[in-house]
Amino acid sequence: MVQLRDDIYGLDSAIFMHPTTWVASGHVEGFDDPQIDCKECKQRMRADHVLEEFEIEADKAPIDFINKELDKLKKEEKLKCANCGSKNLTEAKQFSLMIKSNLGSPTDKLSEENVVYLRPETCGGIYLEYKNMMDSVHPKLPFGIAQIGKAFRNEIIARQFVFRTREFEQMEMQYFLHPDEMEEKYDMWREIRLNWYLEYGIPKDKIRWHEHEVLSHYASQAYDIEFDFKCLDGYKEVEGIHARGNWDLSQHSKHSGVDLTYTDDKTNEKFTPHIMETSTGLNRIFLMFIDNAYTEEEVEGETRTVLKLDKRLSPIKIAIFPLLKNKSELVGKAKEVLEMLRKKWMCEFDLSGSIGKRYRRQDEIGTPYCVTVDFDSLEDDSVTVRERDTMNQERVKIEDLQKYFQENLNI
Ligand code: GAP
Repeated sequence: MVQLRDDIYGLDSAIFMHPTTWVASGHVEGFDDPQIDCKECKQRMRADHVLEEFEIEADKAPIDFINKELDKLKKEEKLKCANCGSKNLTEAKQFSLMIKSNLGSPTDKLSEENVVYLRPETCGGIYLEYKNMMDSVHPKLPFGIAQIGKAFRNEIIARQFVFRTREFEQMEMQYFLHPDEMEEKYDMWREIRLNWYLEYGIPKDKIRWHEHEVLSHYASQAYDIEFDFKCLDGYKEVEGIHARGNWDLSQHSKHSGVDLTYTDDKTNEKFTPHIMETSTGLNRIFLMFIDNAYTEEEVEGETRTVLKLDKRLSPIKIAIFPLLKNKSELVGKAKEVLEMLRKKWMCEFDLSGSIGKRYRRQDEIGTPYCVTVDFDSLEDDSVTVRERDTMNQERVKIEDLQKYFQENLNI
């Protein structure tokens, strides 16, 4: 978003922000998830997730609605604890997701004084830096500000691998625009975002749109992109795309007393920009890519586990092996290859076990290429390059390796 477009600016804002930030955004008052407890085994459950199992949409629904639906299920004797099966459950109550601490407090004890919140989403920092961005870069509408950074939520249940964690890396982009442009830009961004997933290898039939029926009062549209996770038994949200009206800037303007209106230099119209947001979690989409890429296949009577990630997403691009670890000429030459390649690509050096085992280890973490330095390399200055998916091997001159990987990795 930032590197390839002219209309989006990158930002790295603070994690600790003035506590009023989260009063203005509505988080202190109402960033909650509904929780029910089992009175027998004390298991905690997200009430909206329990309702989802009965195909009742309750994401961000009011607590009264949730309790009414739970009561109906209780009467039909359908509601049970996910852990022990007991029907003795509490009613749903709201549980705040905000994580609180103190800053600059004179005592060690946590108190209500000098409260500070760990940011529950990165976009709060974007709204606070909006004016700085306007005053320094002077962008014209429509434009976006994007950032990647840690966000923290006191999740009731943080499990399912890294799908839901209490600290996670969020990636958000807020696109500021005139309200008349919302519909067009909203559709444009929905298309861009869906295509992004397809481009990186997610098949069309494993991804779908979910339209939110229950909207926050300020939102006019909210769609999620959902992926069909093998490891989580079905479709789950990976990204949200939200039309948020001018709620965010108006609220921050109201609570800070700072004018955040925009004046169109052609029409002289003065207004508070509206916001279209794209929001996803790095950890969550990487789980999606791993889930999609995980493959077990039969090779010469054995099962090979291989992570068929798009090469651009593989954390390690090239693994370099000397054929034998106790031959210093081979190790020395392989180190020379490593030193040459690691300047441009993330590399790993491995000299333990057979070459077959070393290939398998790299297959499992999705490394696209392995380079082996053998005795012939000492004579002809060539190495064997093996490709992950096809397992094809070819000899490549050491002096041509950079060009080879430039062509094959930097697609
Ligand atoms: N600013 C809007 C916002 O934060 P959200 O639906 O709460 O919207 C957006 O979160 C995305 O952030 C989700 O689609 C998901 O990818 C990621 N996310 C949210 N909570 C998460 C958690 N506890 N662990 C991992 N990722 C999370």
